[in-house]
Amino acid sequence: MKTEDIFEQNLQQLEGNVQQIAHFRNRAGTYEKRYDFRSITFDFFADQLTKLVKITPDENFKYRNILDFASGTGDLSRYLAQSLNESRIYAVDLTFDMLFNGNKLNISDENPVWVCANGIQLPFSDDKFQFVMMKFALHHFDDSLTKFMLSEIRRVLTTNGFVIVMDVISPEQNPSKDFFKTLNVMREPANRNYRTKTEIQELFHGHGLKLVTDYSKTHTYQICVEKWLREFYFFENTLPFVLNSDEITKNQINLQKVCDFHFMDIQAGMFVFQM
Ligand SMILES: C[S@@+](CC[C@H](N)C(=O)[O-])C[C@H]1O[C@@H](n2cnc3c(N)ncnc32)[C@H](O)[C@@H]1O
Repeated sequence: MKTEDIFEQNLQQLEGNVQQIAHFRNRAGTYEKRYDFRSITFDFFADQLTKLVKITPDENFKYRNILDFASGTGDLSRYLAQSLNESRIYAVDLTFDMLFNGNKLNISDENPVWVCANGIQLPFSDDKFQFVMMKFALHHFDDSLTKFMLSEIRRVLTTNGFVIVMDVISPEQNPSKDFFKTLNVMREPANRNYRTKTEIQELFHGHGLKLVTDYSKTHTYQICVEKWLREFYFFENTLPFVLNSDEITKNQINLQKVCDFHFMDIQAGMFVFQM
């Protein structure tokens, strides 16, 4: 790669980081109080993840090191900490304010360990972690940034270790696929790409991580459109975008009116990959 291209790439990453930090600094104090995908899907992810992490295939997995990648306020780390006394959980995030607010809500002295760092340069030795989890973070990273992050994740992951991706997933088919991706960037510009299940799997396969189908799960939720969109930016644009979408989209997202409110389906997925 030419020096100018490397410079341009670094600059883009830096600008991306500044945007993410500015966005999440503003949100940190109220982050866990909103009606959003995170709050609706938390129980599903917490339950599935606990089951997976408690499976200890061999002795090396007993004293687990778990990395919560782009942890935000570390809600899942704090939840896991209650039942995994022998494990050490590291909550890593680029935005200090997210970690700071997470620490205020924490009840354990030992877990998680809060680490402010960039996901493309993790301050850990090779092969340290048996589990790396990434909840509601992937959609903030475009494919080129994810490439660097996955290479770092592979470095710190032990042989046979698991990478667990938890996120909302876009419908697989158009027109609802494009509709859903556009809507999510409109309502929160720090979002980059809500990927489909196929796109997530192909992205990780491309970086040498294989899907473990036995543990991978999806679940469909009905979300109240008005309540959800009001929590984010540009409500005056996003609500009409949904209500005026074409009939095929409405059908695919299962848009329904109940009393004065609209409901639509969203799908969440937990994808477990192994090296
Ligand atoms: C939507 S939040 C998800 C937080 C948490 N995992 C959850 O489920 O609530 C995305 C997080 O990614 C973090 N982030 C963005 N870019 C990052 C980077 N380059 N390295 C580490 N964290 C990053 C943000 O600071 C933010 O806290």
